[in-house]
Amino acid sequence: MTSQELDPRLPLIQDADLHDKVVLVRVDHNVVKEGVVTDPYRIDATLGTLYNIVERGGRLILMTHVGRTLDKKTGQIKVSDDTSVQPVVEYLERKLFTKFVTPVFPVDPERGIREIDTSINWHIRDLRAHRIGGVYLPNTRWFEGEEAKDEKRERFAVQLAGLADIFINDAFGSWQPHVSTIDITKHLPSFAGFLMQKEILNLRHVLEPERPFVAVVAGAKYDTKIGPLNQIYQKVDHLILGGVIYNTFLCAKYGIRVKGVSEADINAAKILVEQDAKAAKIIELPVVVESETLDGRVEGKYRKRKTRDFRAGEQYGFFLDVAPESFDAKGVTEVIGSAKTIFVNAVMGLTPHFYEGSEKLDRTIDRNRKAQKLYGGGDTLQEFKNLSPGLYLAAMDNALYYFFTGGGTVLKAIEEETPYELKPIKALIENAKTLKLRG
Ligand code: 3PG
Ligand code: MG
Repeated sequence: MTSQELDPRLPLIQDADLHDKVVLVRVDHNVVKEGVVTDPYRIDATLGTLYNIVERGGRLILMTHVGRTLDKKTGQIKVSDDTSVQPVVEYLERKLFTKFVTPVFPVDPERGIREIDTSINWHIRDLRAHRIGGVYLPNTRWFEGEEAKDEKRERFAVQLAGLADIFINDAFGSWQPHVSTIDITKHLPSFAGFLMQKEILNLRHVLEPERPFVAVVAGAKYDTKIGPLNQIYQKVDHLILGGVIYNTFLCAKYGIRVKGVSEADINAAKILVEQDAKAAKIIELPVVVESETLDGRVEGKYRKRKTRDFRAGEQYGFFLDVAPESFDAKGVTEVIGSAKTIFVNAVMGLTPHFYEGSEKLDRTIDRNRKAQKLYGGGDTLQEFKNLSPGLYLAAMDNALYYFFTGGGTVLKAIEEETPYELKPIKALIENAKTLKLRG
């Protein structure tokens, strides 16, 4: 795949003049949990773009979001060490043998950082003079303007733009329409980075899949995945469900009740059950693990249940995983074994306590040596790595595997049937029009 296969309207980093320019790069380095880098995959994936910028004479200012700091009800922004970019900065410094500076701005206890003040100019001077390797801004979601709706939004966009000459978006995983992904493109010449391009190209495997196409969709919430799920259903030859999504489906199909599954979601799932009564695309995993508690794996409080024993009206505890033998069931092995494209957006169980389902899923998929395998989502990758480290390492170097750095983004793109309607990507295309006007 080459960049020629990208929509020609998308402005590319290859075409930007970076020499002696300060380049503001939005990355998705949202890999910090409680102050520790959990999995550097998303940082490593951006290193090529960073090298390219510096090689071409650009000077780096990086920014990412970490976690979700805005309380949507109260409007308060929580600034704490837990969501600091510091661990990412230290990781990058170790990897690149250079120094990154993170400017410190006054923090309002309720509203976060209200202003990019002029103290940053000293750092930018050092950056231009090559006294430091880069500036890494504080967590974008610490800034009051990032998700604001009023004039604070525009102010933040203008202040950010004031720091740099060029904007590069390499944050494929950050599909949310915030200032650092959208509004900034109105004020600076803006381009897609190399990681962004690579991810868009690989989306083609799921948007125009080689068939048979099998998708595995799981996750903790039904309501936010229902849109993409229906769209995926149309696209796939076979669909395997896991997590709360599967529990909801089982409730709707068998008339049972499972703890943690809402009536509203069950009703929404009935449409899928009806559709599937005809199309028969959903492959049932026949054995699930029921637990009485969410507090972990408590001896005597969990057991296996077979779907064929379900009777309408029965009540169950939490279904927290699928049993490994589900993947030995005839229909399941056949479908996975004969697929040409497999897309996994899923962690089957409640990890770290119930993980056997996910582990077996990864191994079963790996046995299909022909299929293009695509994994999406930070949690999915993290689990893959924890459960099967050897397999994960081998898969990293295997051209038949591709790991997206954003699971939500992939689902959104599938829902919209194209990557070019994703808001940050659309914003780059819009900005290209003004670039042409300027040029
Ligand atoms: C992720 O980790 O899923 C991405 O960084 C997106 O994060 P968000 O859903 O908080 O925008
Ligand atoms: Mg996520």
